[in-house]
Amino acid sequence: MNALVLVGMSIADADRRTELTAAARAHGATIAFLQQAEPALSLELTRLADAGTTAITLVGVNLGPLGPAHSWLRRIAGHWWREYAGTTPEVLVATRLADDLDRIDDVLGEAKPISGTEAGLTSAAWESVTGHRHQVMICRGPRCTAKGAVDNLRAMVLAMLEHQLGDDDVLLVHTGCQFPCNQAPVISVQPDDVWYGHVDPETATTIVKEHFVTGQPVVTHRLMR
Ligand code: FES
Repeated sequence: MNALVLVGMSIADADRRTELTAAARAHGATIAFLQQAEPALSLELTRLADAGTTAITLVGVNLGPLGPAHSWLRRIAGHWWREYAGTTPEVLVATRLADDLDRIDDVLGEAKPISGTEAGLTSAAWESVTGHRHQVMICRGPRCTAKGAVDNLRAMVLAMLEHQLGDDDVLLVHTGCQFPCNQAPVISVQPDDVWYGHVDPETATTIVKEHFVTGQPVVTHRLMR
């Protein structure tokens, strides 16, 4: 028994679950996610293996500009392969990510098997707690998501790249409802205790430029207690 799994690589792919599911159905596949959505890839691999699947092909789908590198698909699959307690199926990973749901067939033909020798999930670089100055709470509750939280996130990440701010400087955190929903989309910045409302991508970019780089909160969209 063979199976095909389309694996969303980033939160941008989790946001497009409906499209990913439709593409999977068209290919007789199921879906899984590398992060931030269910089912997690490991859970889906276990489900298929427990059901007696003998060969599983994984195609990574990266529809956003900011997904993790392709190598993480092999590393996560390799970790699962080493840990799975039952009879391990053959797991093949497409050698390229599909950056468009119309390109799944293009990458499907080029898949290489997992060998169990893939790099693990740890690195010497990830030993310590980071010294980031700000934790940025991006509300992904229902109101904020409906009003453009995803576009704000994308603008913020792109602006951080432009200003060479990494996880060591600013940690972006997705949250559920932060409560001032009438001001959606909401972003709050800790430990400064600065709250922003009615944020749009232009404002998100300005927050990076002014608040994170120069330390000056953006007064036009600041919410006062
Ligand atoms: S949904 Fe974002 S503050 Fe409530």
